[in-house]
Amino acid sequence: MDKPGQLKVLVFAASLRAESLNRKLAELAGRVAEKSGAAVVVASMRDFDCPSYDGDLETAQGIPTGAQALKRCLDETDAFIVSSPEYNGSMPGGLKNAIDWGSRFRPQPFDGKHGLLLSASPSMGGGNRGLWSLRMPLEHLGARIYPDMFSLAMAHKALADGELADPTHQARFEKNIEAFLSLAEAAKHYPCMKRAWVEFPGEPPGTGVDRVDPVPA
Ligand SMILES: Cc1cc2nc3c(=O)[nH]c(=O)nc-3n(C[C@H](O)[C@H](O)[C@H](O)COP(=O)(O)O)c2cc1C
Repeated sequence: MDKPGQLKVLVFAASLRAESLNRKLAELAGRVAEKSGAAVVVASMRDFDCPSYDGDLETAQGIPTGAQALKRCLDETDAFIVSSPEYNGSMPGGLKNAIDWGSRFRPQPFDGKHGLLLSASPSMGGGNRGLWSLRMPLEHLGARIYPDMFSLAMAHKALADGELADPTHQARFEKNIEAFLSLAEAAKHYPCMKRAWVEFPGEPPGTGVDRVDPVPA
């Protein structure tokens, strides 16, 4: 059970694969976050899986359960950590689709959330390009994405016995998580910036096209 005032962090991997390297990295991030004093809520991308975004489906049936679960997880936590694969130099389509559906809620659940982006890949790039593409929609939605991202290259070799095989990498990973958590912690207790989220500047607010969240009171 989490203690009053304790930072609550959502941790998930954006892969559906049982043997996902990103799930292993997300689990490691969760353990580090717990050790740092945060309450960790672990979720699975399966919970957030949605049919392809379709405005007609939204009108007929509303927002699907996968995006509802994502919104609930975001609403119940102060910050999120996602470990995402890189597919063809970008983010996985399933994650973008869940973000697109999630962005249809009002208030819009990503707005003002602190987020840390991780990736793991067998490649030498570690999936880092995917994180730059993921940063874009999240920042567009008002999430405060931490400047430092962690991309684990050759992850099939670099992940060993629930830790990173290289102690220097492990120490750097832990510092990255701890630094992110201390910012999220400060923001939880000392909210310092209020802003109005407007999806499309210039679009007049009105029923059906209203994509504006006002400045919170
Ligand atoms: C469709 C597809 C595209 C991929 N594109 C890239 C890529 O651009 N860069 C990269 O580093 N790895 C790429 N990979 C390899 C993934 O990084 C690798 O499969 C990884 O293990 C997936 O993450 P997971 O283990 O968490 O499921 C791709 C894999 C698939 C299936």
